Amino acid sequence: MSRAADETLPARAAPARPFDPARVRADFPTLAQTVHGKPLVYLDSAATTQKPAVVIDAIARYYRCDNSNVHRAVHALGERATQSYEGARAKVRAFVNAASEREIVFVRGATEGINLVASTWGRANVRAGDEILITAMEHHSNIVPWQRLCEQTGARLKVAPITAAGELELEELEALIGERTRLVALAHCSNALGTINPVARIIERAHAAGAVVLLDGAQAAPHLALDVRALDCDFYVFSGHKLYGPTGIGVLYGKEALLDAMPPYQGGGDMIRTVTFERTTYNDLPYKFEAGTPHIAGAVGLGAAIDYVSGLGLEAIAAHERSLLEYGTALLREVPGLTLVGTAREKAAILSFTLASVHPHDIGTVLDHEGVAVRAGHHCAMPLMQRYGLPATARASIGLYNTREDIETLAQGLMRARELFG
Ligand SMILES: Cc1ncc(COP(=O)(O)O)c(C=O)c1O
Repeated sequence: MSRAADETLPARAAPARPFDPARVRADFPTLAQTVHGKPLVYLDSAATTQKPAVVIDAIARYYRCDNSNVHRAVHALGERATQSYEGARAKVRAFVNAASEREIVFVRGATEGINLVASTWGRANVRAGDEILITAMEHHSNIVPWQRLCEQTGARLKVAPITAAGELELEELEALIGERTRLVALAHCSNALGTINPVARIIERAHAAGAVVLLDGAQAAPHLALDVRALDCDFYVFSGHKLYGPTGIGVLYGKEALLDAMPPYQGGGDMIRTVTFERTTYNDLPYKFEAGTPHIAGAVGLGAAIDYVSGLGLEAIAAHERSLLEYGTALLREVPGLTLVGTAREKAAILSFTLASVHPHDIGTVLDHEGVAVRAGHHCAMPLMQRYGLPATARASIGLYNTREDIETLAQGLMRARELFG
């Protein structure tokens, strides 16, 4: 499909109205509550985002009106459910600008997408002595599947280092790409630092060496306009729940030729074409990778979430979040004893920090009493914490519904934590 045709689809539609954080906030029922008597300030969107009413309603409507299994029924409900499920796939295709819906596999989330590639593509393509390259800033979900693949095959896991600011050491990374490199797997955007990695350049270098590239887009999909064809990545994964959609649904994008050549992941209904006790033949893409009854309501909810963010406009969302990130960076730098962890030049939505000798969990508890939800811990990136010699950080993460007032409440809460523990 041509780009011109893409532009008529909702996922690429221009924003209808200018971005208005107050109006946007009103779309999210969860945000209209108090916590410990204070208005909720939700700054934990990197863990999971809140859901707009349109997503909640789409899921409820599906269960109230259309609930049925997909692909098999000849009755009206079955057809409607199938249309909604496949309609969601079409929205995802447009959202990431994939060439075909055959390249869009519904999975449980980013974690399952990576595990799928590690166990199917990995099993078929990785041999003893081969190398898999990841980076020091990866989430456990983009470390452990590759570690297991290496254990199973005798391949070696290589890790590209990062600078103190949380940027990739690009020259060292490129030097680690060699003729034994089969795959480079890295975060498009880091969950613990916010760093946006220069993935286009890395993809080019990896391809020049004959390696394929998987991008973990769990943190990029909610903040950046995606174009897998322009990036030329081989695989891209993300989770619905970090994109204002439901939990339990996510996406694996893979180039058709690669997906076609890969063995199936799980066996069962929908992934088969024919079964005899002697032999099974497999369904076409993407169904070859979708064994069993899929998360239909999840896909419907994800489709509604994509319509929602596309209606606001990814560029407008990114501009709003960028201004909050700049504001938050400036305000937090004024808090005595606060050290930002992750100060990359290209960053999205994440303020990770330590505060003098106050334990991050204590920061989180004090903030919670102020109604402010942040995360404290290793953020599923223990090797990254080791890189900085830290057991944990506190992390405030920004979503499209956050406001300057939210950031100010965070900064005031941090001053309070400092008074209490300082
Ligand atoms: C960068 C990154 N990758 C992968 C994941 C795993 O996502 P999920 O738990 O939705 O599979 C996360 C979740 O925090 C993440 O931030």
